[in-house]
Amino acid sequence: MSPKTMAASVVAGLSALALAACSAGTGPATGVANGGGSTQAAAAKTLRLSLNQTEQHPSFIALKNFGERLAKATNGRLGIQVYPNETLGAQAEALQLVGDGSVDLAIVSGSQLEKLNQDFSVFNLPLVFDSVESQMKVVNNADIVGDLYKSLESSNQITVVGGFTQGTRSVYTSKGPVNTPADLKGQKIRVQDSPLAIAMVEAMGASATPMAFGEVYTALQSGVIDGAENNEVSYVTQKHLEVAKFFSRTNHLVGLDYLIINSGLLGGLSAEDRAAFDKEWAATFAEHTQLWTAETDKAVQAAEAAGAKFNEVDAEAFRKALEPLTAQYLKTDTQKALYEAAQSAAQ
Ligand code: GCU
Repeated sequence: MSPKTMAASVVAGLSALALAACSAGTGPATGVANGGGSTQAAAAKTLRLSLNQTEQHPSFIALKNFGERLAKATNGRLGIQVYPNETLGAQAEALQLVGDGSVDLAIVSGSQLEKLNQDFSVFNLPLVFDSVESQMKVVNNADIVGDLYKSLESSNQITVVGGFTQGTRSVYTSKGPVNTPADLKGQKIRVQDSPLAIAMVEAMGASATPMAFGEVYTALQSGVIDGAENNEVSYVTQKHLEVAKFFSRTNHLVGLDYLIINSGLLGGLSAEDRAAFDKEWAATFAEHTQLWTAETDKAVQAAEAAGAKFNEVDAEAFRKALEPLTAQYLKTDTQKALYEAAQSAAQ
């Protein structure tokens, strides 16, 4: 079965179960025994979360722990089941499924949300964040992102809960190390499917090929693309190092993932469960950020041991190539205000 067919049938299966139970996701919360027919206890609900990473990835680990803590904090009323490896579909599908309520939660990259509201592109600009630390200060600060994160509620039934870092992204290729934008000329580099992601890689000198994350390994292996761009953790967990051994530290973007949830579901939580959800989410992104540094170091070691070659690049040449994108993508007052907030939080 192809991954797409499998995703479709898993979702169909989930919907059938939901119909049978007359309530989506009804069942024992993760890590907690079922109430066993008690009529007094509130129905235990397990939220389904779609993720495109493996079970070794820090996002899977932190989200699984989120589910366990949430179940404990709500006495088993609410839990989370994380479906890794695009089992429920690639991120573009997950976005739709969360909107229509067939999946409760998903991790999606900033590029996906740009399609629904251009203001999200501000945080996908190559030079907006200078480190994971300053990024995390901004993207989980309700004073800065409160309105942005609610902006998809009436149009798409999606609420953004908060951000997970993707760490710093660099280019990796199969043919040899990259030092300057000129080295990328004529090379087909996979990008996430968004106009800004395409413009970014083209500004860096390459020819951009958008495709879903789960298709990158095969595309590299078959030579459909010459390289991709991502962080060290995904480079290793997706095994891309096996088919693109030159990792050139362009450090062109501190990438950002978001946890999104169906707005109706979030709005339907009791005040007590909502407070537990928010509290445990705050602990989750903090744990994820901590894990990130350690897992990045481990990924580099593992990649080098497997024969990958890391090299520094002409950083100034890439910075200059990327600089014009900022002015091109900051059009409205809202976008400019988000950008300013990000810059001043970084000071
Ligand atoms: C990172 C990110 C994912 C994203 C992926 C990609 O791994 O965490 O959310 O889908 O990059 O390049 O598609």
